[in-house]
Amino acid sequence: MVTDAQHNNIHSHRILVLDFGSQYTQLIARRIREIGVYCEIRAFDMSEDEIKAFAPKGIILAGGPESVTEAGSPRAPEIVFSYGVPVLGICYGMQTMAAQMGGAVQGSNEREFGYAQIRLAGENDFIKQTKDHVDSDGNALLDVWMSHGDKVTAMPAGFEVMAGTPSCPIAGMVHKEKQFYGVQFHPEVTHTKQGGALLEHFMLGICRCDALWTPANIVEDAIERVREQVGTDHVLLGLSGGVDSSVVAALLHKAIGAQLTCVFVDNGLLRKNEGDQVMEMFAKNMGVKVIRANAEELFLSRLQGVSDPEQKRKVIGNTFIDIFDEESSKIDNVQWLAQGTIYPDVIESAAAKTGKAHVIKSHHNVGGLPEDMKLGLVEPLRELFKDEVRKIGLELGLPYDMVYRHPFPGPGLGVRILGEVKKEYADILREADAIFLEELHKADWYHKTSQAFVVFLPVKSVGVVGDGRRYEWVVSLRAVETIDFMTARWAHLPYELLETVSNRIINEISGISRVAYDVSSKPPATIEWE
Ligand code: XMP
Repeated sequence: MVTDAQHNNIHSHRILVLDFGSQYTQLIARRIREIGVYCEIRAFDMSEDEIKAFAPKGIILAGGPESVTEAGSPRAPEIVFSYGVPVLGICYGMQTMAAQMGGAVQGSNEREFGYAQIRLAGENDFIKQTKDHVDSDGNALLDVWMSHGDKVTAMPAGFEVMAGTPSCPIAGMVHKEKQFYGVQFHPEVTHTKQGGALLEHFMLGICRCDALWTPANIVEDAIERVREQVGTDHVLLGLSGGVDSSVVAALLHKAIGAQLTCVFVDNGLLRKNEGDQVMEMFAKNMGVKVIRANAEELFLSRLQGVSDPEQKRKVIGNTFIDIFDEESSKIDNVQWLAQGTIYPDVIESAAAKTGKAHVIKSHHNVGGLPEDMKLGLVEPLRELFKDEVRKIGLELGLPYDMVYRHPFPGPGLGVRILGEVKKEYADILREADAIFLEELHKADWYHKTSQAFVVFLPVKSVGVVGDGRRYEWVVSLRAVETIDFMTARWAHLPYELLETVSNRIINEISGISRVAYDVSSKPPATIEWE
């Protein structure tokens, strides 16, 4: 039963995920959160004291790119095996568990990658009555996703085989008394059909966590903590119209109302009507105090003659800081600065500090803030993954279309106008982009793509309209499908849709004579053109 005290702390039923560097670790954490249990990702070499202070109700040893057979490869802290809570080792996590407890792991240069069918060996409390198929001998089978080279070849004392395949006879192992489990397959990926059920049973059944981590509870908890942190002080927020800063604005408005002031910088590089929409939603509908700084002229004048992409980013970023600084200095009595930092940023910067990050996406977000501001930081989304931010956005009453919109880069249209940025180009691009997005929505393709936009090419091309010859600009449509924005496939939009968009852009916008479609995937191309 959940007591009031536990309800008061939605972090109390918590799982520790120790990271050995796998690209799947964040996915494991997201799955646990989806089940309704709070968890944190920490580096594999977390100290004993830190683990005790964390007080997990269960521990997951995640995967990693190294081989436990190699000297110096990472190991789990010994306390994991004596602390007295259930432990689940996944892939590398299972192998290091086996190696550390006296079993054997065999290295291999051959990777087993993809679907596998594992045969379950008898009853145990982990894979309990879970099956996808039954073979002719009556054995239960599970369809799982494997991705490994090494495998456990001898189990430590006290363990039993939980599941196996012909090529990997120990694909799962269990120490029933200690409640230690190891799986060679990946329960966190959707290809493992019963993966969600297995993880849910581990969290709720075996670790006995309550599902307290729900959008409503997260909002309530965040509001309470913000109120505690800032008291009666005033808070400043740079509102960009993107998902994270919008959710922070809605959350802080609910928590502290008039103690919040937002600054929205219109840099002239926003999408069509974007500035008005932000003001309408936050200032007019929600009653949030928003100062709109119309700084198009300053941004464009500073961008004059600048054509190098990185230089453009710098100019835009610095100008943003200048304006933000100027506007905020007009507001009296501000002690705190709110930011939309989310959990992946926290994980990545922690990994960057310890040098353990294998792949780090570096992003120069506009809004890098002046160091001499001397304000305390309020970061109410620090613990949340993007999907959780979206869910609490809906919980706070933000419209679906705003919460699930495509990401938009900080430098805005500045990196979608190739070379030098001019007002004429930005105005044309805004119109073309609006048509593309409108048609994507109409054809029900907007949410099937992860990001879609138009790019302005500063080259002229000949066309004919009626009897007249036109010599005008060229634009390219760009639409991609991606999960993590690190790799992406160009979206296979229907020809009819491309045709409608192209016709509309050329007919409705004077100044554009030709529309192209970008069929480059990432890598080698990037999503943005600059
Ligand atoms: P690329 O072009 O690197 O983009 O494949 C990957 C994702 O990052 C976004 N992006 C940026 N976002 N400031 C941002 O805030 C930037 O300078 C920037 N550059 C790229 C891009 O829109 C895509 O979602």
